[in-house]
Amino acid sequence: MKPVLSQPPHVDWLTGAFSRTPLLRKTTRLADLPGVFADHSGWQQADPQQIVYDVEMLDTLSGSGELFTGVTHLYPGKVGNEYFMTRGHFHALREQGEVYFGLRGTGLLLLQDEQGEMHLEPVVAGSVHIIPGYTAHRLINTGTEILSALAVWSSTAGHDYAALAGGFAWRVVEENRQVQVREVQNG
Ligand code: F6R
Ligand code: ZN
Repeated sequence: MKPVLSQPPHVDWLTGAFSRTPLLRKTTRLADLPGVFADHSGWQQADPQQIVYDVEMLDTLSGSGELFTGVTHLYPGKVGNEYFMTRGHFHALREQGEVYFGLRGTGLLLLQDEQGEMHLEPVVAGSVHIIPGYTAHRLINTGTEILSALAVWSSTAGHDYAALAGGFAWRVVEENRQVQVREVQNG
């Protein structure tokens, strides 16, 4: 049999740009994130067309056993004093984990399990984040540059946004020019 050499896609480790036209490019703007930021009037006053993040995915196989690969580019910014962040989700198939690799920028990965246990991991170029199953995850850009992270996850994992419609238990804000983590007070 003749060996076949096929060129894999490349990712630019400095920017997260894929060498191939992505299968999918999803842009999430402030208008798409009602109820996500604590400061509702700040959100209403902000430009609804402001891009918060872009996700690009490689055109790969899907189905049982296959993996998706995507890059999230999360822009710097705040609503009120709360940093720009992704919506955040559990996987629809709860047991499915995921791996994030920090590429550029500075931020945090917020993790919350089904019992409400939380922790935060700093995201920087080269950081590797093993997100276990049963754990919701959200990226937060605490810096002044684009935060980009590469992710690999099961193509069948799916997203469950509804389970966290009430929000994560911690919010990450800027106070006195410092990154602060605040527990959400209920009621
Ligand atoms: C896939 C995954 C990422 C996120 C992306 C956008 O399982 O975790 O690709 O989907 O960072 O975040 P969400 O989906 O929370 O809007
Ligand atoms: Zn995920």
